Amino acid sequence: MTSNETLIQLEYIDKVKKILDLKRQELKRPLKACVTTFGCQMNAKDSEKLCGILKECGFELIEDEQSSDLVLMNTCTIRDNANQKVYGHLGVLHHMKKKNKDLKIALCGCMMQESSVIEKLKESYSFVDLIFGTHNIFKFAELLYRMYTEDGMIVDIWESTPEIVEDLPTVRKYSFKSGVNIMFGCNNFCTYCIVPYVRGRERSREPEDIVNEIKNLVADGVVEVMLLGQNVNSYGRGLKESISFAQLLKRVEDIEGLERIRFMTSHPKDLSDELIDVMASSKKICRHLHLPLQSGSNRILKAMNRRYTKESYLALVEKIRDRIPDIAISTDIIVGFPGETKQDVDDTIDVVIKSGFENAFTFIYSKRTGTPAAEMQQCEEGFVKEQFDRVLKTVQETARSKVGGLEGSICKVLVEEKNEHEEGMMTGRMSNNIMVHFKGDESLIGKIVDVKLVQSKGFYYFGEEVV
Ligand code: SAH
Ligand code: SF4
Ligand code: F3S
Repeated sequence: MTSNETLIQLEYIDKVKKILDLKRQELKRPLKACVTTFGCQMNAKDSEKLCGILKECGFELIEDEQSSDLVLMNTCTIRDNANQKVYGHLGVLHHMKKKNKDLKIALCGCMMQESSVIEKLKESYSFVDLIFGTHNIFKFAELLYRMYTEDGMIVDIWESTPEIVEDLPTVRKYSFKSGVNIMFGCNNFCTYCIVPYVRGRERSREPEDIVNEIKNLVADGVVEVMLLGQNVNSYGRGLKESISFAQLLKRVEDIEGLERIRFMTSHPKDLSDELIDVMASSKKICRHLHLPLQSGSNRILKAMNRRYTKESYLALVEKIRDRIPDIAISTDIIVGFPGETKQDVDDTIDVVIKSGFENAFTFIYSKRTGTPAAEMQQCEEGFVKEQFDRVLKTVQETARSKVGGLEGSICKVLVEEKNEHEEGMMTGRMSNNIMVHFKGDESLIGKIVDVKLVQSKGFYYFGEEVV
């Protein structure tokens, strides 16, 4: 629903546009903006909204910071290395700004929700022009207006927001696929994780708003949507209408013209039989489930506050594979959680082998200030590195043997882009999220084609289009 707030922001877009028009006339060239995004799909989606506002304000969006008049970094703080990248890059931007005084530098995203970060930026990075957080990105036009009309660093960080502002402009990175937020925030408070602190409490969007957005996307050429939330399985809590995630999926499935539905992320503790049934009987929901394990040790799972056990996780995987035999399951694993022992890691490795993950993202635990795990006895670095290598080796071997099993079959592939490494090759994605490279040209982008999987390369395939 278009709200008052939307109208206010549309007015600010007009005001910024006028300011930029004058600048453009002065400089006799278009004004350019570059947005750099770190982190997850949710941040990527936020960046599309920010780009939409920038474009409406009159900026040309480019990828080269060097020739930009405005640089915006949408940050992530899930692990410390994400933060370090931002500080490192700010050094480069400072250098650019010394040469070009008119360059504007803006920061937003999850990292900005941490007070220690804001203090550090104010103290040591005072050349930054605008800082805002995750709760007020819908105010971007208003903040841009302030940046161009007020002096000094503008800092606007909110602790939370009950509001979900709909119908602001957006720019899509891909013409044929799009992320769609179905909920914001997280209530799970896994003890290692900073997301609930920087993204706030869980809020679901109204099903009509979601369905309408997808209908509009489809009318605009989108064939695949990715429903986004930190824990999509708890979708619907707090809405007036009683609706589960599985029921939402059914409504999305009914949208004519939509070909593929994906979603991220499913928390194992809330994955219902109803969802498995809906997936099993669906023609559009992709044969892929991302089901983060984090650890296979019951002791560690408890300390992580994940609220499932090794046994219940394995039983769930078995049930899913049984009901949907062609599904690919991917996962996230953390190694080096406080107090983790070699035996705990053995348990994780055991679950990897038994679950037969088609893909797994393995992370070294990163201590996040303010989370309960930061107060626990941390593991020794050398030990963690050794355990990480053990897990990684198993994960790679398992995925290789699972993925390789498809050799010779013919699969439907959504063609996404030109292969960067090889001339004349295109890259597409199968329903099970596995990538295929095959000969073709750009006219295939956005189309779903049949491809024979000729050669397995471990995590991906080389194939041939079947015409
Ligand atoms: N909501 C999703 C995860 C979002 S964060 C879920 O619950 O599955 C993506 C992944 O980052 C997590 O699954 C976890 O494996 C990893 N992660 C989160 N916090 C981390 C930390 N402090 N150190 C290392 N990895 C972390
Ligand atoms: Fe973080 Fe856990 Fe929420 Fe995922 S479910 S975002 S890991 S707190
Ligand atoms: Fe990072 Fe924020 Fe996503 S911390 S992983 S960008 S929700």
